[in-house]
Amino acid sequence: MIIGLTDLEEVFIKDLNLQFLQIYKVNSLLGSGAFGVVLEVTNLISKENSALKIICKRDQSVYNVLIKELDILRELSHPNIVRFKQILHSPDFAFIEMEKMNGGTLQELLNKHPQGLEECTAAAIMKDILQGLCSIHDKNYIHRDLKPDNILLNAISAPGEANVRYQAKIADFGLSAEIKYGIFSGQNQIDDRMGTTLYMAPEQAQGQLYGKRVDMWALGIIMYIMLTGTHPFVKDSDNEYSYSNRIASSDLQVSKNLQPIAKSLFQHLCSRTLSERYQAAQAIKHPWITRNPHDEVPCTQADQMRIMEASTFFKRAQSALLFMAVAKVSSESSIGNSLSTDYLKRIEECSAGESVTSGDATTNETQC
Ligand SMILES: Nc1ncnc2c1ncn2[C@@H]1O[C@H](COP(=O)(O)OP(=O)(O)O)[C@@H](O)[C@H]1O
Ligand SMILES: [Mg+2]
Repeated sequence: MIIGLTDLEEVFIKDLNLQFLQIYKVNSLLGSGAFGVVLEVTNLISKENSALKIICKRDQSVYNVLIKELDILRELSHPNIVRFKQILHSPDFAFIEMEKMNGGTLQELLNKHPQGLEECTAAAIMKDILQGLCSIHDKNYIHRDLKPDNILLNAISAPGEANVRYQAKIADFGLSAEIKYGIFSGQNQIDDRMGTTLYMAPEQAQGQLYGKRVDMWALGIIMYIMLTGTHPFVKDSDNEYSYSNRIASSDLQVSKNLQPIAKSLFQHLCSRTLSERYQAAQAIKHPWITRNPHDEVPCTQADQMRIMEASTFFKRAQSALLFMAVAKVSSESSIGNSLSTDYLKRIEECSAGESVTSGDATTNETQC
């Protein structure tokens, strides 16, 4: 009997090609998601405890898409991304061995704190997720399924510390995708159920082209839930359809107010205007994350554009002023030129007169 497994799951485990049981000793069920179960196992060769995700190969189309998770996990090696160890195959199943996280999921932690987490705990978890996300986005992947169920925790309290501290890691890359030219443009069988509606960005919900910023929206929702215990935009009367429509179409009002610095970050994560929404590299520098109120609130892309426009305007104004100044000087100098030309002409005339005078002095003198 494996701790935590239902009878059905027991049957499922026994039904697996048992080859893997000679490599792994199954200890308990860690969780199950949309695409399979995750077991805590001991690797009998390395003697390490691991998490083993089992993916059924029978539905080939789903399997082909999910197996991408491996390519992505192999490429992503970061302290805030759950570590891939190895993959084994049987005819019917793939077994993905990963590092085992000891603190459960962020969702489980939130379940224990329905009013929300301490602000510094929430900020530390956000920072960890952002660090992992920077690495994912740098490699041109999007996660597309960020939610508390897919954030795993290690409890890392030092002895004698009153509050438990957590290290957070991003897991479950089953729905991740590579992006090209900043957007996801591929199609696959499970596109229509990408992510969970509650964490889905408006552009994704509307079926528009989307990019890295869908992960930032999801992170904003996670942040808000961590701080308040509630979703910012869901109403009691909502169903999936009404919610998707609302986030896509109207002015969004949050259910509870946040402290100003937290609110500033949240608004820059859950902004419907893409250019007002932070990228991971900007969000990680926000004072709510750094916990240093003297740090400046980072600029969004829209801010940068405004600054560029203002500086272009300033440069144009400068050029215009310079042009006017040059024009003035040159016009003054052309007046000067014409004055001097007139002057020269007059000098010439005078000289000519003198010469006349000198030639006909009497006449001149008479005239004078
Ligand atoms: N490395 C791990 N360490 C501990 N628990 C894990 C680990 N990976 C997954 N789990 C547990 O299994 C659940 C499902 O795993 P996940 O990778 O999200 O699968 P799915 O793609 O089916 O959603 C998680 O929510 C978590 O409870
Ligand atoms: Mg999952």
